[in-house]
Amino acid sequence: TDITTIRNFSIIAHIDHGKSTLADRIMELTGLIAERDKKDQYLDRMELEQERGITIKSQTVRIPYTAPDGSKYILNLIDTPGHVDFSYEVSRSLAACDGALLVVDATQGVEAQTLANVYLALDHDLDVLPVLNKIDLPSAHPEEVCQEIEEAIGLDCGDPILVSAKTGEGVKELLQRLVREIPSPKGDPHQPLKALIFDSWYDSYQGVVVLFRILEGTIKNRQPIRMYSTGKDFEVTRLGVFSPEPTDIEELGPGEVGFLCASIKELDEARVGDTITHPKNPTQEPFPGFKTVKPMVFCGLYPVEPAEYSVLQSALEKLQLNDAAFAYEAETSQALGFGFRAGFLGLLHMEIIQERLEREFGANLIATAPSVIYEIHKTNGEVFEIDNPSKLPSPGEIDTINEPYVRMEIHVPNEYVGNVFKLCEEKRGTQKDLKYLTANRVIITYELPFSEIVYDFFDRLKSMTRGFASLDYEIVDYRPSDLVKLDILINGDPVDAMSCIVHRDNAYYRGRALALKLKRLIPRQLFEVVIQAAIGSKIIAKERNAPLRKNVTAKCYGGDITRKRKLLEKQKEGKRRMKRMGSVEIPQEAFLAAMQVD
Ligand code: GTP
Repeated sequence: TDITTIRNFSIIAHIDHGKSTLADRIMELTGLIAERDKKDQYLDRMELEQERGITIKSQTVRIPYTAPDGSKYILNLIDTPGHVDFSYEVSRSLAACDGALLVVDATQGVEAQTLANVYLALDHDLDVLPVLNKIDLPSAHPEEVCQEIEEAIGLDCGDPILVSAKTGEGVKELLQRLVREIPSPKGDPHQPLKALIFDSWYDSYQGVVVLFRILEGTIKNRQPIRMYSTGKDFEVTRLGVFSPEPTDIEELGPGEVGFLCASIKELDEARVGDTITHPKNPTQEPFPGFKTVKPMVFCGLYPVEPAEYSVLQSALEKLQLNDAAFAYEAETSQALGFGFRAGFLGLLHMEIIQERLEREFGANLIATAPSVIYEIHKTNGEVFEIDNPSKLPSPGEIDTINEPYVRMEIHVPNEYVGNVFKLCEEKRGTQKDLKYLTANRVIITYELPFSEIVYDFFDRLKSMTRGFASLDYEIVDYRPSDLVKLDILINGDPVDAMSCIVHRDNAYYRGRALALKLKRLIPRQLFEVVIQAAIGSKIIAKERNAPLRKNVTAKCYGGDITRKRKLLEKQKEGKRRMKRMGSVEIPQEAFLAAMQVD
């Protein structure tokens, strides 16, 4: 392939601004997929995978494109995920691109995620083309949105690309602008091989599948390759491109994007960010790589029935094969028995994994409330991190506790600024900045403890702003806080899986609210159930559930109907999960109660 005809690009967008729709339309207008194929795309994909013996995880596609003047191009559309939890994945995909289409919904304007992604793209020196989508809608206001793009991002929007991904209007022009304005890659086929791994996943037929972009040199099928960071050598057993079906190819040159299989058994041996080179003639300058991601949110996962422990274990193993950002280890809880502590990038990541465990693997589990990592400084000089509140040493041994802080940008229409302030102050936030994006859209910057947003922050923000707020955050550092452990006792026994770490100022209030909430969630039994909240040895709240009289059916679980989270909704639909502790039956909701006390 002539390198000057290649264009490697991503589409970056805020969620729901039309990224997938635009990608489909581009594939359709270039003839890569026929219109009639579109509907059953997902199904086709599953069948295809079986037929071709490969799993297609990525949406990255190679699109041959003929411009109206007859010149031919190869467009590599590189997929990026859209959510705040996954910005590291966005970053690694962008590293394989030379340009990006910034899709902004012309009825909505610039959102927090738009900004975050554009900054990532600019960090990678990409040329960014603004594209205003949904111009078919009467409420589109492209001029104002253009102004927002110029003011908020500093991108020239003098000649914006206007499209409707839905009707296809403007998409032909978009392709012409794309090949004109996004630069072709550079690279020398005679240099030693240097290719960047920007995605990899485990495939049950082929072992690990590696998506890469060649920076220098060429790759041929059946040639030996070396992974730069580990020094391990493999032989390419399959080389190809997704177009959109996997298509075998004999050789790829500089600037090209493709996939390879090489009998690689573990995801760890083909790490994203690593450089592929030739064992005989290795490159001297590997790609600098990406920082490894570290789980930030943790929760306990326990089988409802102890006998299901091994089912859960093998499900976790399988999930980890395809998700290097997800970590777990065995853990024992006095209350819940044998289970696992699992680590996630953020709450969404956690919900996705929990849902997959239940849906795909049929695991029947009890999840505990999420916790962040705390850094403990003991009076004897010892310093360590804990990811489980029950591991907090006794107060006498603790000198200081440091907790992670985030810097958060919230985009919101003017009229909701007061509500956002109120919420952030309640969550121990400190305001850092306030900027007007336009006359009625504001960017508010706060620093606040990560633990406060792990609970119900997103839901509350959405409801306080009628869904108009969008946000982005990153962890900045660890800071000392006056924190205490809040314990829950049921009939006098501490339930370690319900312990949580809270700020001292909120401890009494939270303890009382939590005890009251548990009283409602824990069904009445044939005997009295006493629920207590305690800080150290001091009981700060006490509730009791009177015994049932014999003739009353034991079906009155006082389920809380205000829950909004999708996950919890799903759990409600499924069968009710209860864990027997001593003689008391405790439903799953009770373990998550700490998340929704405000
Ligand atoms: P995520 O995959 O969740 O990140 O969203 P996305 O950015 O890929 O958005 P998607 O393509 O799924 O589009 C979101 C919604 O907007 C869908 O309901 C689309 O049908 C709709 N949509 C996308 N483009 C247009 C458009 O040009 N006009 C109109 N009217 N609707 C559109």
